[in-house]
Order: sequence, then structure tokens, then C-alpha cells
Amino acid sequence: MFAKISRAQYQRCSPGRGIHPEIQLISCSQTRSCGPPRWRLNSNAFGEIVSSAKPKAILEIGTLRGGTLFVLCKLSDPSATIISVDLPGGPYGGSYNFIQASLYRRFRKPQQSVHLLRADSHLQSTKEAVREISSQLDLLFIDGDHTHAGVKRDFELYSPLVRSGGMVVFHDIVPHDMSKFPSEKGCGVDRFWREIKASYHHIEIIDDPNQGWAGIGIVNV
Ligand SMILES: C[S@@+](CC[C@H](N)C(=O)[O-])C[C@H]1O[C@@H](n2cnc3c(N)ncnc32)[C@H](O)[C@@H]1O
Repeated sequence: MFAKISRAQYQRCSPGRGIHPEIQLISCSQTRSCGPPRWRLNSNAFGEIVSSAKPKAILEIGTLRGGTLFVLCKLSDPSATIISVDLPGGPYGGSYNFIQASLYRRFRKPQQSVHLLRADSHLQSTKEAVREISSQLDLLFIDGDHTHAGVKRDFELYSPLVRSGGMVVFHDIVPHDMSKFPSEKGCGVDRFWREIKASYHHIEIIDDPNQGWAGIGIVNV
């Protein structure tokens, strides 16, 4: 089933196409080590997705500067369990340091819990560690290893933990323009997305097919 979001729908869910009002309150962007999603393109739509779904159990693969982690903490359920998996020195960003980690732990609301797993998402042992924290997820956000094999592995390993009716959100479903992003060579999220999307109820949020990166894909499992 195909449910491509229209421009009018997208504009309705992203008034002024600015940052979500709660996200404007980010103060940690005063430091260069942390900040709003590095991808301002479609990032407001990401906030709207989280805000309307209000997930209670979330896994984020790929945290880096904590931008999307911040959005997840601010806009998910006030008692949500939020798990981040990020590989120190990993491709497509390279993770975060211990000072950033202590800042990320403070993103949570009083009743929320934030778990930072510094590990390779592709390992079975990492999945076990996630499952010990939460055996069922409402939202899985995949933004770690952007190679075709990497994103496929993340989807195959963790989507079975997502409850029926829950969602898997992919970042970077638009083909990367290598002339603009030479360091992100090998990105294959767009290919994987094309392979699986028709098998699910899905939504694509893309401003412009020629934007050269970003874009959000959501499947309901
Ligand atoms: C694009 S960044 C994440 C950006 C973040 N979601 C945001 O927009 O605010 C990708 C991150 O994934 C991590 N990563 C890459 N491969 C990984 C793997 N196999 N397991 C866990 N993390 C991985 C990198 O270390 C990097 O920090």
C-alpha cells in the first residue's frame, strides 16, 4: 500500500517549515558538540511524527550529536523508555564522547529513561541488550550505518521487536548526491527503501526529489 504524503499535508504538519516549537527551546546548540538534528531538511516533519505517535518505547540507531535523541525525548510520551545505540568511531559520523553522553542523559523528562548503548547495532549481543531494556518497541529509528547491507541488517534485526502497528522510521531515503557529500560514499538507504517500501503501508516525506540527501521513510509493521 502506498501513502505518499502530499505537499499540502506536509506543510500542514510543518507550519512555516521551521523547527517544532518545543524543539526551538534547545539550548545545548550553544555548544558545537551537540545540537538540533544535523539535517534541518525534513527535521520538523520528524518532530511531528514523534509528537503525534507519542511512542512509549523507542530505539534510535545512530545518535551522533544528539539532535534526534533530543527530539525523541521532548516529543515522545512523558514516561517513555528511549534507547540509543551508537558505535564509537562508527561510519557516517563517529558517535559522541563522554561529556556529550552526560548531556544526552539529561535530555529526558522526569518520568522518562534514556539508555545509551555504545555498541555495534549489527551484533546479536546488542539486540539482546536492547531487548533486556525493552522487549517491545513502538518506534524504531534507523540512522546508523547507511550502507545497503548496514541498514538492511538493522531493519532485519530490530523490526521484529516493533509491536504490530508500530513504526520504523528511516533517514536518508533520498539518493545521496556524491558531489555534495563525498564523505558519505556508499550510502544505500535509498536502494533498501525502494526494495521494501511496497511491502508495507508507508509514507515518504521528501521536500524535493533532487535535494541530494535526507528524506524520511516510515513503514508500519
Ligand atoms: C548520521 S549519524 C546520526 C545522526 C543523528 N540521528 C541525528 O540526526 O541527530 C550516524 C551515527 O551512526 C553511528 N553508527 C554507524 N554505524 C553504526 C553501527 N553499526 N552501530 C551503531 N551505530 C552506528 C555513527 O557512529 C554515527 O554517530
